[in-house]
Amino acid sequence: MRLLVHSGFFTKTKVHENQEDDEEAYILTPSSRLTIKDKVTNFSPFVQAMLDPVLVSPWQFLGDWFQGSELTPFVKAHGMGLWDYCNESPKYNNIFNEAMASDSRLMSLVVKDYKSIFEGLGSLVDVGGGTGTVAKIISEAFPHMKCTVFDLPHVIANLTDSQNLKFVGGDMFQSIPSANAILLKSILHDWSDEECINILKRCKEALTSKGMEGRVIIMDVVINQKKDEHDVTKTKLLFDALMMVTFNGKERNKKEWEKLFLEAGFSHYKIRFIIWNEVPY
Ligand SMILES: C[S@@+](CC[C@H](N)C(=O)[O-])C[C@H]1O[C@@H](n2cnc3c(N)ncnc32)[C@H](O)[C@@H]1O
Repeated sequence: MRLLVHSGFFTKTKVHENQEDDEEAYILTPSSRLTIKDKVTNFSPFVQAMLDPVLVSPWQFLGDWFQGSELTPFVKAHGMGLWDYCNESPKYNNIFNEAMASDSRLMSLVVKDYKSIFEGLGSLVDVGGGTGTVAKIISEAFPHMKCTVFDLPHVIANLTDSQNLKFVGGDMFQSIPSANAILLKSILHDWSDEECINILKRCKEALTSKGMEGRVIIMDVVINQKKDEHDVTKTKLLFDALMMVTFNGKERNKKEWEKLFLEAGFSHYKIRFIIWNEVPY
């Protein structure tokens, strides 16, 4: 508890103000509040998945990986990539999907604060949409929009369609179901530049509307070292390293993103920086 207080995860307070006895108690800070169950911002499943030995052990193989020929330290540690590992281990598949779902609940804030991004779209496919948390929030906010969650078959197995939300299994490197707009949330940072261009080309083929109407909406990190606060950059760079260790992916700055969009054949792009200094809980 001393360490957690020192790192700002809890603070200490006196139990009885203005009294002689100095009995102390621990109280929550903005960081520890993010792990409270039943709140929109409950990130405890995310923390659980990140601290699971499945994701932690590959870090111990960095040196071996650097000198060897495996694609990632994750492959060095487990003999296969994360998506195959999830396919073979229902237990970790569940932990990982819950982690993504907990992060995705924040989407309700995006839909509220950035409604115009989605307004007017007749259909949308959430590519790599996991178990559908994001698509469910969008489909409820926009009841006239036909939403599809597209992910690997083992991820969407046993999930049931609802009125304007359906689940389709497949491989985004092969083909993507058609729609007015495609959403890629926390997808491209998992992949190399070459693979991202491939995914973006498949997205372009899947768009049924042309011009500004047909859009690919990407929600991912943009490294912005000159403008971001020190701690924000530190978090982004930690994720950059996590992507390298786990997936052969990376976080990108504006220039690196632009290169991907242009090489995939898109002519326009717009970047909006979204940071909530205080996340409501
Ligand atoms: C980092 S998770 C992001 C999940 C979700 N978009 C979110 O933000 O909560 C990446 C997702 O991509 C999916 N995925 C990986 N390879 C895929 C492929 N070849 N085709 C379709 N989906 C894939 C994974 O199963 C996983 O659900």
